[in-house]
Amino acid sequence: MATLSLQCNTPLTGSVVVPGDKSMSHRALMLGSLAVGETVVTGLLEGEDVLATAAAMRAMGAEIGRDDAGLWHIHGVGVGGLLQPRVALDMGNSGTSTRLLMGVIASHRITATFIGDASLSARPMRRVTEPLSTMGAQFTTAPGERLPLTMTGCCPAVPIRYVLPVASAQVKSAVLLAGLNAPGITSVVERIATRDHSERMLRGFGATVTVEDSPEGRIIAVTGEAELRPQVLTVPGDISSAAFVIVASLIVPGSDVTITNVGVNPTRDGLLRALIAMGGNIEILSPRTVGGEPVADLRVRHGALTGIEVPPEWAASMIDEYPILFVAAAFASGSTTMRGLEELRVKESDRIAVMAQGLAACGVSVDELPDGLIVHGRSGDAVAGGATIAAMLDHRIAMSFAVLALNATAAVTVDDAAPIGTSFPGFVALFQQLGAVAR
Ligand code: S3P
Repeated sequence: MATLSLQCNTPLTGSVVVPGDKSMSHRALMLGSLAVGETVVTGLLEGEDVLATAAAMRAMGAEIGRDDAGLWHIHGVGVGGLLQPRVALDMGNSGTSTRLLMGVIASHRITATFIGDASLSARPMRRVTEPLSTMGAQFTTAPGERLPLTMTGCCPAVPIRYVLPVASAQVKSAVLLAGLNAPGITSVVERIATRDHSERMLRGFGATVTVEDSPEGRIIAVTGEAELRPQVLTVPGDISSAAFVIVASLIVPGSDVTITNVGVNPTRDGLLRALIAMGGNIEILSPRTVGGEPVADLRVRHGALTGIEVPPEWAASMIDEYPILFVAAAFASGSTTMRGLEELRVKESDRIAVMAQGLAACGVSVDELPDGLIVHGRSGDAVAGGATIAAMLDHRIAMSFAVLALNATAAVTVDDAAPIGTSFPGFVALFQQLGAVAR
């Protein structure tokens, strides 16, 4: 296992770009594969999770390639046109690939087997098998409705109206993607708004998608037997990757960093709101729309942070950012309370437990709650550090402690940096560019 320890003796300075948005990259590959003709994507994330989606779409008949200029070309087969894969679909570490593709396959008459690494194989799939079974798909799973899993889709599938029991963009998207090839209207009701990249991109590809606010929540409906038109798409930088650079710049004294071309979709920007509420010096510059998504440049400067109570209703808009927010809270004055985070326990690792243990090992005082964490900040002082952290096959755990290490008295080592490649290739090089040293 490749260990990682970042250190820094100078402020972080400079202007950087972060890799493309992971959520949008998965969706671009899937929808491009379901359109008839050639879709061209600029800025696709070339992380392992997204490459797993590309390999699966190829295994089901799409032609997908990258040219020398870094553009991705997808020749789609049309909605309903996917072929039976001859091999098991290896999803690696990627929950998004798995759950969204289960939706895509649910309304195709094909059988597919999903396998994944130890982390993915421990994650719950019932949240998608349940609605997709109602639509007619059949599943054989490992105990506890986990991977390995074999499913047979159904065509014609039954359009459904599904009220999301958990705030999950993956479940919402799985049902909507299944609905693309079902005769009639498939709708999802969400009480709490989750990331809306599927809705935006489906519309961009020409699907009929309506979104309506009702007393029950947001109702998103897709008209089935859709014909998707190929697109030319630009994927902005991933705010979930920018999050590590943002927090690093806030906690390393003297830092002044600009991150250009970051997606700031309001269903994803909770971290910015939370850090600004904590007093973080973050400027949102040149807001613009690119390819139907809000984008901006972010200038972040070091400064004092104050602990707050983060409203639980913000959780969905920053669900992947809590590990790094816990790190920011460790450098604030006072305590930061973060609740409503049950979902964090079923991510790539149990992110509440793993972060609580790691922070405690680095000398940060925390109280673990069933649904969250209270972090008692050190008023900007360096944390003690001096620990080796087990990343647990979780990229965001690895990156969070790599960032914490930038303001620790004794070195903090992440035992396995490999998972970082799932979402943030070039993470170490980017921090070196800003002035950090990697060991
Ligand atoms: C994602 C949705 C979120 C998020 C994941 C990506 C997506 O998962 O944690 O990293 O692209 O739809 P949930 O929908 O399970 O909350």
